[in-house]
Amino acid sequence: MTNVRALAAETLFQVVDKGQSLSAQLPYAAQKLSPKDKALLQQICYGVLRYLPTLEHYCQQLLDQPLKGKRRVFQFLLYVGMYQLQYMRTPEHAAVAETVNALQSMRAPGLKGLVNAILRTFQRQFSELQESAARVSVCQYNHPGWFMKKLQAAYPEHWQDILAANQEQAPMWLRVNRAHYSVNEYSELLDDAGIEHSLEPRFEDGIVLDKPCDVYSLPGFREGACSVQDAAAQLAARYLDPQDNERILDACAAPGGKTCHILELAKANVDALDADSERLLRVEDNLQRLELKANCIHADASTPNEWWDGQAYDRILLDVPCSATGVIRRHPDIKWLRRNSDIDDLAVLQKKILENIWPLLKPGGTLIYATCSVLPAENSEQVANFLDCTTDAIHQPLHESDTPTTPGLQLLPGLSDGFYYAKITKQQ
Ligand SMILES: C[S@@+](CC[C@H](N)C(=O)[O-])C[C@H]1O[C@@H](n2cnc3c(N)ncnc32)[C@H](O)[C@@H]1O
Repeated sequence: MTNVRALAAETLFQVVDKGQSLSAQLPYAAQKLSPKDKALLQQICYGVLRYLPTLEHYCQQLLDQPLKGKRRVFQFLLYVGMYQLQYMRTPEHAAVAETVNALQSMRAPGLKGLVNAILRTFQRQFSELQESAARVSVCQYNHPGWFMKKLQAAYPEHWQDILAANQEQAPMWLRVNRAHYSVNEYSELLDDAGIEHSLEPRFEDGIVLDKPCDVYSLPGFREGACSVQDAAAQLAARYLDPQDNERILDACAAPGGKTCHILELAKANVDALDADSERLLRVEDNLQRLELKANCIHADASTPNEWWDGQAYDRILLDVPCSATGVIRRHPDIKWLRRNSDIDDLAVLQKKILENIWPLLKPGGTLIYATCSVLPAENSEQVANFLDCTTDAIHQPLHESDTPTTPGLQLLPGLSDGFYYAKITKQQ
């Protein structure tokens, strides 16, 4: 199947109904497509996931009952058609005709009449449908109710800004390899290549591009001159502050963005550990491209008795598994794949990893706890509990409002992704 709209419908069905992750499904679906169609496939899938409740509402109004069983995938084809009609610049006749044509490659030409009729009615009744969607709160924000409640409780003044930022396309940030270039030197190379960008002093290794581009068009990308990494993620290695010859543990390392950054900043001995062997291979790929060396270990960070050699670490980065609610704009499927109950389960795992890794840190050593979550249960509450129960843990503020009762630095999605950091040192 190489029809881009048919592939989009199938991909969305796999994500929303079958619980598959978009980042796993998209490359699979895009295999046989031209670069232009790949971009269109991505745009449609991201867009439908961003506005899923609104599109579901339209279908509820227009279909007697939702399509079920073997016909379920065609409900997603209707979302694809409606998304193009409402949110993309596709000419209306082309959006309808191309969506109806997709049924040919989905081997369901018998449904052409139905899909055509629904999309035409959608066009005719668009104003009324839009008004009725505006009266439904989940369509107003296009996020799950449980998540909105948690955000409202944590950010009574900013929750709507966070939801709005989650609906935007994320900027493309580069991390300049400081072992090769200064940020200003690399900025000049980008100027020479005609790639428009800007610098942000808060993120000392970062450059943000005006428009996303193919990585291979970036000067020296193949040779490791830069990597693609969000600005917030670039703070991890800077807060860790690695020094030459130190023994460092990156306990949840895959795919290795932060491992490589640590090694770009210092000639350290890094153990890069991850519980997922396939993801660990990506750490090795990234190290290879950047010509860096780390000791990759496939193991569970919550059970160090199974793999630790007994030699304490000078510094530890704990970029723990989390809800990823700070990176929804890059992974809009998170909104529909995460469940409220996942947050408690993740908090239990994070607590276990933090408590069991702590004895591996040397007296006087530094630990950075990080998540790409915006939820306090995974962040400030987690670290506050740890500080309360751990007598040799010393809280190190990262900014003025970082206190032992609400520890850490919480970045919200905007210029960078949503991220959380806390810095803890061990008493000598
Ligand atoms: C947020 S990601 C890490 C991103 C990585 N630090 C980077 O910058 O590229 C969390 C990682 O934790 C790993 N993980 C989950 N549970 C783990 C465990 N019990 N022990 C070690 N790694 C674990 C996941 O496989 C995932 O790769």
